[in-house]
Amino acid sequence: MANLFCVKDKVVIITGGAGILGRGIAGHLAEEGAKIVILDRAAEVGEQIVAGIKAKGGEASFFLTDVLNKEVLEQNKKDILAKYGRIDALLNAAGGNMAGATIGPDSTIFDLNIDAFRKVVDLNLFGTVLPTMVFADVMANQKEGAIVNFSSESALRPLTRVVGYGAAKAAISNLTKYLAGELAIKFGEG
Ligand SMILES: NC(=O)c1ccc[n+]([C@@H]2O[C@H](COP(=O)([O-])OP(=O)(O)OC[C@H]3O[C@@H](n4cnc5c(N)ncnc54)[C@H](O)[C@@H]3O)[C@@H](O)[C@H]2O)c1
Repeated sequence: MANLFCVKDKVVIITGGAGILGRGIAGHLAEEGAKIVILDRAAEVGEQIVAGIKAKGGEASFFLTDVLNKEVLEQNKKDILAKYGRIDALLNAAGGNMAGATIGPDSTIFDLNIDAFRKVVDLNLFGTVLPTMVFADVMANQKEGAIVNFSSESALRPLTRVVGYGAAKAAISNLTKYLAGELAIKFGEG
C-alpha cells in the first residue's frame, strides 16, 4: 500500500516560510522529497533557507510576498505555476503576536490599542484567508490538495495578555473547520 504521508514531488507552498516553524517544516518536507515554495516578506532569510535546502540536494524556491496583498499573491501564483505547474499543499504559517495588541498586567481592556488589535487580526486571519482564496482553487480544480492553517492554544482558551492574537487564532480555527466542509462538499473528498 502506498505511504499515505508520502510528499515526494509534491509542490508545497509555505507562507511565513522564513519563520521559525515554517523553515523547520520546509527542511523536513524537502528531505522527504517535496518541492518547497517559501513565500515570505523576509527575502534575505528566505533565500538563505532555499540555499540550505538545495545544498542538501532538495528542491526549493523563494518568492517575495505580502500575505495581505491579493495582487502580489496572484503574481506569486503565476510564478509558481510557471515554474512547477501545480500546487499540492498550502501551509499558512505567516502570522504571530504583536506587542501592541496585548494587555499587560498594569493595564486593562480600556487601554487596548485598537489599531494594534486590528493589525494582529489582519495578519493572522486575513493573512490566511487571502492566500487560501488565491492558491486553493488550483487544488480544488485538480480535486486534490491539503491546506494547513496555524492556530494556537490561545484559540482554545484565552491566555493572559494576548487578547488580539487569541481572537485572531480562534477565528482561524473556526475558518479551518468551515473550509474543510466547504471544500469537501463542493470539490470532492480529495
Ligand atoms: N512558535 C510558536 O510557538 C507558535 C505557537 C503557536 C502558534 N504559532 C503560529 O505559527 C505560525 C508561525 O509561527 P513562527 O513562530 O514560525 O513565527 P515567526 O515570527 O518566526 O515567522 C512568521 C513569518 O511570517 C512572515 N510574515 C509576517 N508578516 C508577513 C506578511 N505580511 N507577508 C508575508 N510574510 C509575513 C515573517 O517574515 C516571518 O518569517 C504563526 O501563525 C504563529 O502565530 C506559533
